[in-house]
Amino acid sequence: MSSRETLADKMEFPPETPQPNIYPLSWQRQTSKMEEVWAAAQREQWDPARLPWDSFHPEQYEWEEREAIAFWWTLLSVFDASAPPVFAEALIKTYEDHEEDPVRRCFFSVTRDEQNHEQMCGLAITRLLDHPDPLTYQPKSELGKKLQRNARWLYYNGGRYWNGYKRAVPKYSLAVLFSSFLMGEIAAATIFQQMAKSCDEVVFQEAFRNIGRDEGRHMAICLALMERDYPKLGEEDAAVITKQIRAGYLFLSALLFEPPAEFWDLPADFIAVQQQADEVARNAGFGIPTREMKLENWRRAMLNLKGVLDRYGVPFPAIPEVGITGQEVLDVDLEEIIPVF
Ligand SMILES: [Fe+2]
Ligand SMILES: [Fe+2]
Repeated sequence: MSSRETLADKMEFPPETPQPNIYPLSWQRQTSKMEEVWAAAQREQWDPARLPWDSFHPEQYEWEEREAIAFWWTLLSVFDASAPPVFAEALIKTYEDHEEDPVRRCFFSVTRDEQNHEQMCGLAITRLLDHPDPLTYQPKSELGKKLQRNARWLYYNGGRYWNGYKRAVPKYSLAVLFSSFLMGEIAAATIFQQMAKSCDEVVFQEAFRNIGRDEGRHMAICLALMERDYPKLGEEDAAVITKQIRAGYLFLSALLFEPPAEFWDLPADFIAVQQQADEVARNAGFGIPTREMKLENWRRAMLNLKGVLDRYGVPFPAIPEVGITGQEVLDVDLEEIIPVF
């Protein structure tokens, strides 16, 4: 069909617009909980550049300490630097699906928040390393060298899922996507609240408080959407969710506990090097939880999620790593992980 073919001279009204069409001309408001969360997001907006950076003097730390703390932020970036495009893709889906107006706004706010979190990672890393990129930085300590190798492997692994995600988004309903998102948000809310309490630097305390509050709102968005959609969830969707939860566990464990070899392709000494760095950072006043605390937090986050899914009769996967029994999921498709954070 030529693009010059005109219709307006042949008919009174235009033909139906083929769907999915990117723009809804409609502002339906049904889910009042979403309105509340959006209002909170507007009130609680913050700017990483305006944190009290003047109070932060990285030169007071040893290079090994600076590199150890920067590594933690790099690890966080593997998740948070992909969050803006991940949620931007989901935001587009809410428009294609003609989701109600507050749902679109909430997703917009998540995208913006995650951009803030990414900025925060960049600001912290740049100050700590005096260089804006942990992969091209010249390490100063022995530990720093090993950490950069760890960072390279993390980066390589994290880069594997984007194409899978782009394939998954159009295939799944928002309800399915949300179960994966919720998992990330529960986990994130937990870790940031804890970090806010256990870091000495004011600038990090404030950042973690803000990020933790953002993640709490993201969690509320997921819960509100599940409350709306899960009562009418099909059995097929439920099965996909069970699988995605197991996949999300494997993926997020790298940040919240230890990277399982089932997904993460890493050198044999990766975990030992990271534990060493955690210890150095902790002693320097950057309160990364101990292995036992990580395990306990992660277990509790999983049990919270299980509590939500139980309510809707969605079978929970077995997560023997943290002592949770459930449905055995053996065939996690690593190409189709919905990355979450
Ligand atoms: Fe985030
Ligand atoms: Fe989030």
